[in-house]
Amino acid sequence: MRDFDFLVIGSGVAGLTFAIKAAQKHPDKKVAIVTKSQASESNTKYAQGGIAVVQNEFSDSFEQHVQDTLRAGDGLCDEEVVRLVVTEGPQRLDELIAWGASFDENNEGTYDLGREGGHTHHRILHHKDITGKEIETKLLTQISLLENIEMLSEHFAIDLITQHHIAGWKGKKEDLQCYGAYVLNKQTEKIETFISKVTMLASGGAGQVYQTTTNPKIATGDGIAMAYRAKARIEGVEFIQFHPTALFDHGESSPSFLISEAVRGFGAHLKNGKGERFMLKYDERAELASRDIVSRAIDNEMKKSGDECVFLDCSHLDMEAFEKHFPNILEKCQSMGLDLTKDMIPVVPAAHYICGGIKTNQQGQTTVGNLYACGECAHTGLHGANRLASNSLLEALVFAHRCFLSASELIESTSIPNGIPEWNEDGTSLPDELILITHNRRELQALMSDYVGIIRSEERLQRALNRLKVINEENEALYKRSKISPQLSELRNLISVAYLIIRKSIERKENVGAFFRL
Ligand code: FAD
Ligand code: SIN
Repeated sequence: MRDFDFLVIGSGVAGLTFAIKAAQKHPDKKVAIVTKSQASESNTKYAQGGIAVVQNEFSDSFEQHVQDTLRAGDGLCDEEVVRLVVTEGPQRLDELIAWGASFDENNEGTYDLGREGGHTHHRILHHKDITGKEIETKLLTQISLLENIEMLSEHFAIDLITQHHIAGWKGKKEDLQCYGAYVLNKQTEKIETFISKVTMLASGGAGQVYQTTTNPKIATGDGIAMAYRAKARIEGVEFIQFHPTALFDHGESSPSFLISEAVRGFGAHLKNGKGERFMLKYDERAELASRDIVSRAIDNEMKKSGDECVFLDCSHLDMEAFEKHFPNILEKCQSMGLDLTKDMIPVVPAAHYICGGIKTNQQGQTTVGNLYACGECAHTGLHGANRLASNSLLEALVFAHRCFLSASELIESTSIPNGIPEWNEDGTSLPDELILITHNRRELQALMSDYVGIIRSEERLQRALNRLKVINEENEALYKRSKISPQLSELRNLISVAYLIIRKSIERKENVGAFFRL
């Protein structure tokens, strides 16, 4: 059993920002970060477009950023949260810059602001087209300078510890508190008990619940599933944002390589297989309409034509400027033999972001005591029915700070009860079962893509639910008799998240934002 003051699950922008702040403010307290892969592996690392922060109050304004966010969220945002995120953004950005992150500037020495779908202004700060990598690297450098942070990579959080684990507890749901997590050390294959006064879930998204996704393999919704098992409130998970332009490679890679929306902000046009620019038929903002609209338009074009993809045409753009702005994307296209001065980029929509998650208040507190959630796994109310592009890194920074302020107070009054048991591990691993896990994961991803995609229907959702039940029964049986492995635990989490998405989709009757049902 190990004791910490702050236990952070996840090493993306949300978890790292919180950990730096907690460790700096409380040098006498112990901060642990557990992360299931290498420390840098996260959705954060792959962020391309950038971070939306109002820079120039003359040409842009907080109010316009607020209105753009509300419009994308289609009436379901919490307006107070939108206002606080937008207005606190500049301070959080300054901190990030003070920690070493740099953003591209133009010839006048001001920030070279990009534009993406749903934004009425250029307000996206970026570091070429590898903004996330820049942020992740600089945050990890700060972490390495703080002696009271222990970074535990290759450590997989299995479940949160609550009173449910204490023998004889008979309290109410409202009294639930979190006391840390059971964590699988992937090297020793042992499940360790990490006790902590404050636990921060910063475990990121769940894109891997779908076959075609921009999210890396780690994005299996573990935090949402763990919180659900711990009886925390989950909201808004039916709002899955599909990014309109993932590189089409005949479904061969997961994750799919992203062609940033900033490329459309830079002037690229979407065309169908006949070479016709089609977005103006769907929205006056054309390629820069919000993502839900562009993704549905592409879906419609593909269904009408029977084509497997549409195309992004960059041939009319200034290629020298393009290369400066998007070197990573250009290199990827060239590696596929595409010459962007004449070839168009084949693209398809792909699952990209889960707008809902673990419900929090404005301090990032979940409905379970001592448990915070921040970043993509959280549902703060910012995104409503659809996230505005580049608002996610911003949300993580703003809420990591708010969680830190709240947790710094809470920690002084938190105590850990007696009787927390070690993990009860009595299963045995059978080698042939590992392949069953892989098969079931693939089956789950296929059913989610086939039946719970951009356009849903009652019939498709019921089909998905029926098939999911079978996968769930098989997996639960396996879970009960097997030694816990990351693969088994991830599949269990994917099943829970898929179930929540389907159930919430069945419950939601009106079409709003990213949610569309026939
Ligand atoms: P993540 O960065 O995903 O970090 C989650 C961490 O939790 C990882 O370290 C993971 O290994 C760990 N973890 C998960 N489960 C467990 C477990 N069971 N045990 C231990 N550790 C665990 N947003 C923008 O605002 N602007 C952009 O330009 C942008 N571009 C994007 C491009 C791509 C390709 C993708 C995929 C996303 C993009 N997004 C963008 C979204 C944004 O990157 C993410 O929403 C954000 O980075 C999430 O940060 P996070 O800290 O919440 O989670
Ligand atoms: C992109 O660069 O298109 C992704 C931006 C985002 O998801 O916010």
